[in-house]
Amino acid sequence: MNEPGFVVWFTGLSGSGKTTIAVELEKKLLKRNLRVQRLDGDIVRKSLTRDLGFTEEDRKKNIERITFVTRLLAKHGVATLVSFISPYISVRDNARKEVNEENAKFVEVFVNASVEECASRDIKGLYKKAFAGEIENFTGVSHPYEEPPTPEIVCNTEYETEEESTKIVLDFLEKEKIIPLQIKI
Ligand code: ADX
Repeated sequence: MNEPGFVVWFTGLSGSGKTTIAVELEKKLLKRNLRVQRLDGDIVRKSLTRDLGFTEEDRKKNIERITFVTRLLAKHGVATLVSFISPYISVRDNARKEVNEENAKFVEVFVNASVEECASRDIKGLYKKAFAGEIENFTGVSHPYEEPPTPEIVCNTEYETEEESTKIVLDFLEKEKIIPLQIKI
């Protein structure tokens, strides 16, 4: 039987830094010869979930499908890095339950930055439109975001550099023996 992989689930507002940290972490894990797959909202929403929008019902369906894929990847030994806003506690908790059923570890990372901070970054120009009422159901503006009450990790991207945030996640994975300790010579 295959050894199960593990899941790092990044949740947080749009523009909080989920993708940035996941991309950096992916590089580090690949260097350690792990099999890694990243699943990202902006990419997956152009394929697997391109029929879905941003109502509560559609977001739940979005994460349900991602959970299905994540579970399969984790089952087959892949280090799966998931970055979606995933605004609902119940849906994230279900993802954890499903992944754990494959005997794979689930690490929830809350990528924490305030709406004001994310809006000031406004990398994709979406907050400007959301505040102008041009985008409906925008997370943090006109749609809720439920903060995780007990995530394994919080990355405070308002105060940490992307290298610092990535290191926090990597150190946690080593400390919890989810990945082997790297011996530095
Ligand atoms: S989720 O809520 O269903 O988990 P997901 O992570 O897949 O969201 O997609 C979020 C991305 O979609 C954002 O980073 C942003 O680029 C884009 N987007 C477009 N419309 C919205 C909206 N109404 N709310 C949030 N993000 C939106």
